[in-house]
Amino acid sequence: YTSTAIVLLLLLNCTFCLALWCYDTQYSCEESCRDPSRWAAQFPSCRGLRQSPINIVTSKAHSNSALPPFNFIGHNKQINVSLENTGHSATFSLPQSVRLSGGGLPGNYRAANFHFHWGREGSPGSEHTIDGERLPMEMHIVHIKEPYGSLAEAEHDMAGIALLAFLFQESAEDHPHLDTVIEALGRVQNNGSSTEIMNFRLSDIVPSASELHSYYRYVGSMTTPGCEQDVAWTVFKRMLPISSRQLNALVLKCRFWTGQPMIDNFRPIQPLDGRVVYKSNSDSLFPSLTLLILSFTSYLEI
Ligand SMILES: *[C@@H]1O[C@H](CO)[C@@H](O)[C@H](O)[C@H]1NC(C)=O
Ligand SMILES: *[C@@H]1O[C@H](CO)[C@@H](O)[C@H](O)[C@H]1NC(C)=O
Ligand SMILES: [Zn+2]
Repeated sequence: YTSTAIVLLLLLNCTFCLALWCYDTQYSCEESCRDPSRWAAQFPSCRGLRQSPINIVTSKAHSNSALPPFNFIGHNKQINVSLENTGHSATFSLPQSVRLSGGGLPGNYRAANFHFHWGREGSPGSEHTIDGERLPMEMHIVHIKEPYGSLAEAEHDMAGIALLAFLFQESAEDHPHLDTVIEALGRVQNNGSSTEIMNFRLSDIVPSASELHSYYRYVGSMTTPGCEQDVAWTVFKRMLPISSRQLNALVLKCRFWTGQPMIDNFRPIQPLDGRVVYKSNSDSLFPSLTLLILSFTSYLEI
């Protein structure tokens, strides 16, 4: 009878816990939340055929001349940003004045929020991997196509959501403006807590559009439940710097809703399932121009 009672108790416990999704590192025998391999039981889109993140095999990316640079609007204006610990991540809400167009996307998009995915001390935590390499951290800026008002509305449009991804690589020097973000994360330690960052400029973290010609594009999904598909993903080739001091400080700031340290908040790589990853061909434009000038110069010398 005792063992039956224990099994029943465990079952009851799990029924409660399983209602909540979590990352791999949060899963344990005591806290049986729904880890990424079981998200789909509650959120069917998570087993769709266009899921994110993916591993980008750079040699297999198709050059595409229809991928021009972006126009960023409001990136260098001072804004107030609210930051909330959602229990799964820490989300920085952006005002409607931050927008983008171009980038081969069909329309104008307004920013909703940005957030980061990271690992733990000494272990990287980007969501996308490049030729199998996981980078220390990844920043996502979520944009919703106009005139949609929410992610839910935008979900039924093939490119209703545009996600920009910036990968971070470890640098010897500190990133000059990340400390503001790291300090703010320290003010939202637990689920539900929030704070405000005054006079924040996105351009302090994100380079200008003219420095971001080279990027990868593919169609995927949100990387958290409900894994909504119809996301136009842009992964920039240019990486942003973060020092190991900053990285180690950042990964220690927040806690998940389970109370455990918020580390390794990234979803495992998803199958490509026949999708094509495109790359903007601004790189190839430069060498071919150089080649043209070189051949012209040698022609003159003859
Ligand atoms: C930011 O908040 C401060 C204090 O509430 C306010 O004075 C300022 O006008 C706000 N700035 C913007 C751009 O909204
Ligand atoms: C996290 O906080 C939010 C908002 O405060 C709350 O609605 C939610 O139930 C919390 N989640 C958990 C698992 O405690
Ligand atoms: Zn994300």
